[in-house]
Amino acid sequence: MTNRILAPLLLIAAAAAADAEVIRIATRSIELTYMPDENGELIQIHFGLRDQAPQSPEQPKGPDSAGYGDPTAGSAYPGGGSVFVGKPAVSVRHADGNTSTVLHYLRHETTPEESGSLTRIELKDAHYPFHVDLMFRTREQEDIIEQWSVIRNGSDGEILLRDFASASLTFQGDENWLTHFHGSWANEMNIAESRLTAGTKLIENRYGTMGNLYVAPHFLLGLGGPVRENEGTVLLGSLAWSGNFALNFEVGLPGRLRVNAGIHPESSERHLPPGETFTTPRFIYTLSTRGAGEGSRRFHRWARKYGTRINGKPQFVLNNNWEATGFDFDEAKILDIIQASKDLGAELFLLDDGWFANGENARINDKAGLGDWEPNRERLPNGLKPLVDGAKSTGIEFGIWVEPEMVNVKSELYTNHPDWIVTQPHRPLSFRRNQLVLDMSRPEVREHAFRCIDETLKSAPGTVYLKWDSNSYMTHPGSSHLGPDRQSHLYVDFIHNLYQVMERVAEAYPDLTVMICSGGGGRVDYGSLAWFQQFWPSDNTDPLRRIPMQHAYSYFFPAATISSHVTHAGQRPPKFAFDVAMSGRLGMDLDPRKMPEEELATSKQGIEVYKTHLRDVVQFGDLYRLEAPGSGPRSSLNYVLEDRSKAALFAWQTADDESAAARTVKPGGLDPERRYRIEEVNVKPGDTSKLELHEQSRSGRELMEEGIKLPLARQFDSAVLLFTAH
Ligand code: DGJ
Repeated sequence: MTNRILAPLLLIAAAAAADAEVIRIATRSIELTYMPDENGELIQIHFGLRDQAPQSPEQPKGPDSAGYGDPTAGSAYPGGGSVFVGKPAVSVRHADGNTSTVLHYLRHETTPEESGSLTRIELKDAHYPFHVDLMFRTREQEDIIEQWSVIRNGSDGEILLRDFASASLTFQGDENWLTHFHGSWANEMNIAESRLTAGTKLIENRYGTMGNLYVAPHFLLGLGGPVRENEGTVLLGSLAWSGNFALNFEVGLPGRLRVNAGIHPESSERHLPPGETFTTPRFIYTLSTRGAGEGSRRFHRWARKYGTRINGKPQFVLNNNWEATGFDFDEAKILDIIQASKDLGAELFLLDDGWFANGENARINDKAGLGDWEPNRERLPNGLKPLVDGAKSTGIEFGIWVEPEMVNVKSELYTNHPDWIVTQPHRPLSFRRNQLVLDMSRPEVREHAFRCIDETLKSAPGTVYLKWDSNSYMTHPGSSHLGPDRQSHLYVDFIHNLYQVMERVAEAYPDLTVMICSGGGGRVDYGSLAWFQQFWPSDNTDPLRRIPMQHAYSYFFPAATISSHVTHAGQRPPKFAFDVAMSGRLGMDLDPRKMPEEELATSKQGIEVYKTHLRDVVQFGDLYRLEAPGSGPRSSLNYVLEDRSKAALFAWQTADDESAAARTVKPGGLDPERRYRIEEVNVKPGDTSKLELHEQSRSGRELMEEGIKLPLARQFDSAVLLFTAH
C-alpha cells in the first residue's frame, strides 16, 4: 500500500530515528524503500519491484569502525568528509571551516497528488543547522520517479556547497552494465556500453551549455548483465539539466555500486548565505524488470503527459527553409516557398536563420547580426508580417527561428554592451561559429533574451511556432556581473535564468509550439523540454544516420518530440527518406520549387499518408523497438495506440541482404485476441505492394508469434505497414 492510499490528507510522520520509520516511495509496480539506521542515518533498503519490497524490515545497523555500513544497504544521501569515504552526494564547508557533513533523518511527509504523490524526507546535520530535504514525486501510472534535493543553510554564517547531487542510488551485484551516449556535431547520440568494474566511471559535461552534442545526460544501467530490449532489470535515468552535469558510477566495495546524478560540482561551488536554499534539478528514473523497451515506454508516456508541453496536441508537419536556402533568401523567395510548401501538403512553414539585422551587421552569413533582432530591411522590407499573412492566406501556419542567448561582435548589441558576454579578464575572446555567449546570469541579458522573442512574435502576429537555437558552448566562464567571489555561480545561474526565460515565453505564449535546437542536438534534456514540445536531434539529416540516432534518442524521448526532417542529405531515395522521417515528428527541409516531378509525387504522398494514417499512432502510440540498427542489415520498430486498435510498423534496409525476404519481423504490443487488417502504406507511386500479407487479416497473436515477411532486400528498400483492428 502506498501512503497515497493510506492517507487521503497530508500525512506527517514525525519520528525519531529510533522509531525505525519505513519510508516507501512507490509507483504502480516499483518501490524505493528507506529506513533510518541505528544512528539515524537514512538508508536505502530496497529498490525493485513493489511486491518484493520488505514488509517489516529490520532496522539497518550503523557503519562499523571502518566506516562500512550494512553491506546490503546504502546511505540515501551520504555526506562528504565523514565516515563515508566514497563519492558523497553532498559536501559542505560549514561557516566555521568544518568540512564534514553527517546527515540524520528528521521526519518525512507524503502528500497525495493527482498523478501520484510527493514525498519530502527531511535530513539535518547532527550538529549544524544544515538541512537537506530529499524530494520524490511519483507518477504512479507511468512508474516514473522524479527526485531532487532542497539544501538549506540554517546557520548564521555563509557556507560553501561543494557537492550537491540530485539523487544517490545504490545497487548490489557485480554484473552492472552501463549504456550511455556520446557524439559530436552532426554525429550525436552514439551508444557506448561497458561493464562497470572497480573504480569510478564519470559521465560528465563541462561545456556549460549545448554540451549534449558531446555527452548526453541520460543512461541505462543493466543490473545483472548488459541491457536487453525485452528482458532483464534496467534502470533508465535522465537528469533534467541543460548545463554541466556529472553522472558518477562508483564501484567501491565489491558488489556495491553507487550512482550519483546531478549538476557537475566542479567549477560550480555554491556559496550559500544564511537562510538560503539551493534546489537541485530533477533526476528522472524508472526501474524496469522487462528490459529497456518497457522502460522507454514509461518515459514516453511520462514525457507526453508531464515532461513536455505536448499536452495531447498533434504536432505540425512543417517545411523549414534552412537546408533548402541557407542564408540566401528574400521576401519573394520565401513567399514562393510558402506556396510550394502548402502545395506539397505541409501545415506550417518555418523561416530559419538569416532574417534579421541591418547594414554592415546584416545576417547574410554566420559572421554578423546575432543580437540585433529587427528584420533585415533589404531582404524583408515589410518585416515578418507579410510572411505570416502570406502563409495564412495560402492556408498554412508560420514559424520563426531565433537564437536569443548569443551575439556576434558585428552587432549593435555587442557595440552597446560589450560587457554582456561570458568571458574572463586578460583572456582573448574565444569564438565558436564566430559568436559569443551572452552572460545569462546578468538580469539585463535575461530580459534581452525574453524581449528578442517577445518583440519578434509581436511583430509577426499569428506566428504559432518558434525554433530556439543556441550554437556555442562556453569557454572562459567568467561574468562581469557576478562578483569575484561568485564566479563559480556562473554555470548554474546561467541555466537557472535561461529556464526563467523559457518559462516566461511559455506563459506569455501558451499556444506556441516551440522546438529546442542547439547546433543540432546540443540541448536535448528534460530540463529544457519542460517548456518545449519538440527538439532538433542533429544537423545530420541523412536518413541512414538518422536511423541509429533516432533509435538512441528513443530510449528516453517519444517520437512526437523528435523532429525528423526529409532533406537531400546523403542523396537517398526520397521514399526511403520519407519512410525514415515518418517514424518521428515528420517535417521537411525541402525547396519544392526545385524538385523533379517524381520526388514531388513521393513527397506529397508521404505527407498525406503521415497525416491521414500515421501521425496519431507515431506521435501518441507505444514504441516497440524490433530490430536494432547495427544488429543486422535491417532495422525496424512499431508503434501501437494505447487501446491497441491500430499499429504502424517501419522497416528500413540499411544494407543489401539477399536473405532478408526469408526473415520475419515480429511486431510488439498488439492485442493477441484481436484481428488486424494489414496494409502496406506509402508504396512508391506507380508501384504495387509486394507484401505477402497486404490487405489480409491476421490475429495479433499470429502476427507477434509468427511474424511477417517483408519484401525488402536491397539497401534503401523500406516499408511502412499499418495494422487496423476490426
Ligand atoms: C543550427 C541548427 O541546428 C540548424 O538547424 C539551423 O537552424 C542553423 N543553426 C541556423 O544557423
